[in-house]
Amino acid sequence: MDWGMKNRLSRIIKPEDGRAVMLAVDHGYFLGPTSGLEEPRKTIAPLLPHADSIMLTRGVLRTSVDPAANVPVVLRVSGGTSILKELSNEDITVSIEDAIRLNVSAMALSIFVGSEFEKQTLVSLTKLVDEGERHGIPVLAVTAVGKDMARDVRYLGLACRIAAELGAHIVKTYHCDDFDKLVESCPIPVIIAGGKKTPELEALELTFNAVRGGAVGVDMGRNIFQSDSPTGMIRAVRAIVHDKATVKQAYDIYQGSKSGKARKAG
Ligand code: 5RP
Repeated sequence: MDWGMKNRLSRIIKPEDGRAVMLAVDHGYFLGPTSGLEEPRKTIAPLLPHADSIMLTRGVLRTSVDPAANVPVVLRVSGGTSILKELSNEDITVSIEDAIRLNVSAMALSIFVGSEFEKQTLVSLTKLVDEGERHGIPVLAVTAVGKDMARDVRYLGLACRIAAELGAHIVKTYHCDDFDKLVESCPIPVIIAGGKKTPELEALELTFNAVRGGAVGVDMGRNIFQSDSPTGMIRAVRAIVHDKATVKQAYDIYQGSKSGKARKAG
């Protein structure tokens, strides 16, 4: 692995502890103005100081993130479909030149294993890996789950392993029972998505269990920006991922941030 690739990876997975807190705000690329991200700039700005990196599209990056913020960027480079159509019908949507121009630390693309357009998305992954290798930019494969796919270790483990075999540098997936087996059979770092909004305590338990099971961290979106205290939640998640906090300690951080806000308002 060359110097540029290693350097970029170290901006995402922190070398001090081998862990990562990514803030995922790319949902609009197929969901449009989803709840909590109606005005991306307002959502993103207060969270940036607590994120190791941010995952988003080039449109939101250009319009809604201050270039001086100096946050490592994981650029979503796949898409081309919407919630109204077959989601797996994705292609690469950003040229490598634009990714370089935007000074990204990694590029992210979804693979839809088991779906109608499985082959198309897997071939796109290999093309992106070839471009990334040429320019020293790591590729994060997102194991997107089709409507009929079970989020179990058999299916997610299959998708993660395929991503690794095809050359991805990091893979993002969902937490599941026997998650440690998925991590064991995947020779690249595994990061988890938060999934749909759940009560804060559950999202923190998920984070704790994922890290305990071998995930390097989270690439979390809705459970942060749809929380009643997004800053409290990202700080709580961060405490688990980087500071070995228990679920209770992390939940106290979230609760404390909520009562601080209430005191200020009162
Ligand atoms: C969409 C994505 C999202 O970034 C991913 O799902 C993470 O966000 P959340 O924690 O809301 O699930 O890759 O395809």
